[in-house]
Amino acid sequence: MPRIAYVNGRYVPHAQASVHVEDRGFQFADSIYEVIALMNGRLADEEGHLDRLERSLSELRIALPMPRKSIRIVMRELVRRNRLKNGSIYMQVTRGQAQRDFKFPKGISPSFVMIVYNATYDTEARKKAVKKVVTVPDLRWKRRDIKSTALLPQVLAKQAAADKGAYEAWMIDDDGYISEGSSSNAWIVDGKGNLVTRPTANNRILKGVTRNALQALCKREKIKIIERAFTAKEAYKAKEAFTSSATALIAPVGEIDGHKIGNGKCGKITAKLFDLYMDYARDNPPPQQERWNPK
Ligand code: PDD
Repeated sequence: MPRIAYVNGRYVPHAQASVHVEDRGFQFADSIYEVIALMNGRLADEEGHLDRLERSLSELRIALPMPRKSIRIVMRELVRRNRLKNGSIYMQVTRGQAQRDFKFPKGISPSFVMIVYNATYDTEARKKAVKKVVTVPDLRWKRRDIKSTALLPQVLAKQAAADKGAYEAWMIDDDGYISEGSSSNAWIVDGKGNLVTRPTANNRILKGVTRNALQALCKREKIKIIERAFTAKEAYKAKEAFTSSATALIAPVGEIDGHKIGNGKCGKITAKLFDLYMDYARDNPPPQQERWNPK
């Protein structure tokens, strides 16, 4: 079955899915993206991702390419055409296509593309696949709250991790604190047993949708989260560590810069949060969302 992508109003074979060379996403990274997990035919945290898409676009004064209702329909249609049950949807909105000029061109409309990817969400296997993390300097701009496709610092960070046989890079800001992962939020259980993650204030990190869901779940379960920045040195001594993102979900971390975290396996709190998140993402569809079950 051919893979199908969505490009500017058309469902096209993946091999022919392209935008113009003068698309501003291509030339300037003048664009926004979102990644949404599809679990059991259900789009996890769909509304949170669409909220963030709208916010990122408005921060860059790029118009929403179509009403939210229509985006929901396109996502479901793409999932249906690809007969996907588990995986993710990647969507990107650029300011559009125009002759190269830094300032906003007049009279263009946004480009909008969507692709789906296959994945498996075996919780137990993912808990066992404990990850290695390395730290790198955070080379990014000051608007890290915007989910921009200007990802070169993250590309370099992730490659630096891969070069050392690690899965993720935790980036260190100019003040010496871990900001976040190259494509995830960073969490530790500190020496006192507190669950700690960095606050999202001052646009210093991306407000992860998975992070938000974990906050709500922790509130419900009366698990306290301390929002404060932490250093790599503190993370080396943490009892547990993990990352959160739409694709990696809750990924246990067993080693940071060669320092073993806890006993090097998925910690108890991490495992509990993983289970809570999976129950929430898989089994508790919000009322506005119907379960989509492609045959
Ligand atoms: N990345 N921080 C950064 C820098 C990210 O790129 C991401 C997500 C997150 C976690 O956000 P969320 O929980 O909403 O996925 C935090 C996506 C998955 C990516 O770039 O592929």
